[in-house]
Amino acid sequence: MTNTVPRAAETPLPVVFVGHVDHGKSTLIGRLLHDTDSLPDGKFEELEAQSERRGGEFEWSFVLDALQIERDQGITVDTTRIWFKTAKRDYVIIDAPGHKAFLKNMVTGAASADAAVLVIDAALGVSEQTRRHAYLLSLLGVSQVVVAVNKMDLVGYSEERFQEVSAEIRAYLQSIGIQDQTIIPISARHGENVAGNAGDGGNTAMPWWVGKSVVATLNDFSHRPAPVDQPLRLPIQDIYHSGGKRILVGRIESGRLKIGDRLLFSPGTQTARVRSLESWKSGPRVAAAAGQSVAFTLDEDIFAERGHIVSSPGSAPTEANSLKVRVFWLDETPLAVGDRLTLRLASSIHTVTVGTIDQVIDVHSLQSSKSDFVECNGVAELVLRSRSKIAYDSYGAVRSTGRAVLERDNRLVGGCIVQERAEVAVRHNLTSVAQTVSVDERALANGHRGGVLWMTGLSGSGKSTVAMALQRRLFERGRQVYVLDGDNVRQGLNRDLGFSPDARAENIRRIAEVAKLFADAGFVVITAFISPYREDRNSARAIIGEGFQEIYVKADLGTCEQRDPKGLYKRARAGEIPEFTGISAPYEEPLSPEAVIDTANRSVDGAVGLLINHIDRAFEAKREGALATAGAAG
Ligand code: ADX
Repeated sequence: MTNTVPRAAETPLPVVFVGHVDHGKSTLIGRLLHDTDSLPDGKFEELEAQSERRGGEFEWSFVLDALQIERDQGITVDTTRIWFKTAKRDYVIIDAPGHKAFLKNMVTGAASADAAVLVIDAALGVSEQTRRHAYLLSLLGVSQVVVAVNKMDLVGYSEERFQEVSAEIRAYLQSIGIQDQTIIPISARHGENVAGNAGDGGNTAMPWWVGKSVVATLNDFSHRPAPVDQPLRLPIQDIYHSGGKRILVGRIESGRLKIGDRLLFSPGTQTARVRSLESWKSGPRVAAAAGQSVAFTLDEDIFAERGHIVSSPGSAPTEANSLKVRVFWLDETPLAVGDRLTLRLASSIHTVTVGTIDQVIDVHSLQSSKSDFVECNGVAELVLRSRSKIAYDSYGAVRSTGRAVLERDNRLVGGCIVQERAEVAVRHNLTSVAQTVSVDERALANGHRGGVLWMTGLSGSGKSTVAMALQRRLFERGRQVYVLDGDNVRQGLNRDLGFSPDARAENIRRIAEVAKLFADAGFVVITAFISPYREDRNSARAIIGEGFQEIYVKADLGTCEQRDPKGLYKRARAGEIPEFTGISAPYEEPLSPEAVIDTANRSVDGAVGLLINHIDRAFEAKREGALATAGAAG
């Protein structure tokens, strides 16, 4: 071992050290190990003698280098961790050489930090990389942060300079939601305010400093609550056979497990009970909890494999074919819509494609914008699609199953956390109840099938006008028909929703569900919603299924703006309506709609006529073999 192992009884607090490469992170770690007396005996003297022999000046970063070399040679048992201790507790340093390694550690859960030290060079100030690291901390939910404004010796221990840098980083941290932050002026090289001599004039180099040292501040931090009280999540790592038994192995990431518990294997609906908890060393066990690795057997011979996530049936993870994630992209080749990647989430592996890139976030200004690419080191919100069902949680709910890494050709190219998403997801404990009137019987009674005419287009393109005229004509022809219109639905069912991309997605999801019910009831449903995002319309298509017809009500922005039936374009241009489609929010044209109605060049009557024909074809009651005796549609 390179340095002191923690006292067994305590759980060390994991702290990640991040910062711009040249801002003195290694020097700080070296100094910290020395000043807290955490180096192996004689190590410091040995390094000092070495540099003297070479005739060079001693550098504190040598300490870390020396530990690193030993770690690379495999001398230590644990390859990613360096320990240090204070009077209060033990710490484990998660040293992240770059943010790639850091992200990988954090996102794979190999090293989940409870606190962070962010190092900034006092002379150089807050850099782009500083912001990126800070953003990453907030993204991953590390909320206790010490900012060490380092190299104060190089700015003459100037209080003014310290205040300048502090103000800038404080504002940034606050804007990304890191509230628990302490900013400390230090000189790692000279040991100022690292482990000792801080505050209240105790530091002769910086008598103006009244705060604590880095170590004293870390001592004030606390452990994140243990995940034992969260729902059970046990990703299966391996299954093997021994002495006629089939033994499942994994690490309990959260929750508890005991003999007799009923377990659900996700994705899927299989359940079985825990028959036994195997143990090689310490005799039979009856229970285990988060943080422990377990080997167990089941009372039934169900199909289980590596990648399955075990939970309790009452609090299962969500399952879906698409995930909305916030991604941190690390590859030189930008991420693009349509890219194929490997997603590793807990022990599961999925091939995913990038569905849409909803927004790209500029970590400097924190502004988000629409783009088809995410550059290296960029952060973005996007939708990943998979053919296989993915069992997951949102990162906010359960960390271990709410984060994932992305790989391309076996290389790490990004990390992501799963966001909350009202989504086309399968929830457990639900079964469908069959209707006593079948779809065919309804079609026979009505003379036509149910279905959905999904009209999409800019505000003012004529969706509602065409929808209402069409409804009238269909009704007069004896059809069961109903219009769901944006302005109406948003005053009732969806009055809690605004116009952000997420709110629009939820708007469309609910409408799709309602339209599906109407269609099941035999109605021809005409919807008139802008529904500007392709991804959302595709979700609607997936919800509604076969009877979905996408109708692009097309009129160019100039025409719509000229019509401006509600005066909204004028107000949007004046900046009074944020995120207004066409002006300050995007509209994604359909790529292959079932029909296009060009309202700039066609009368309402003409449009209705065209759609009537379309509906007669699409929702015809008679279908091969299904309704041999059915009367033809009206
Ligand atoms: S959608 O984008 O979520 O599909 P929806 O069709 O429900 O929109 O609602 C659009 C209607 O809301 C518009 O016709 C307009 O009257 C009103 N509206 C108010 N604010 C906005 C906005 N920011 N963008 C678009 N429409 C808006």
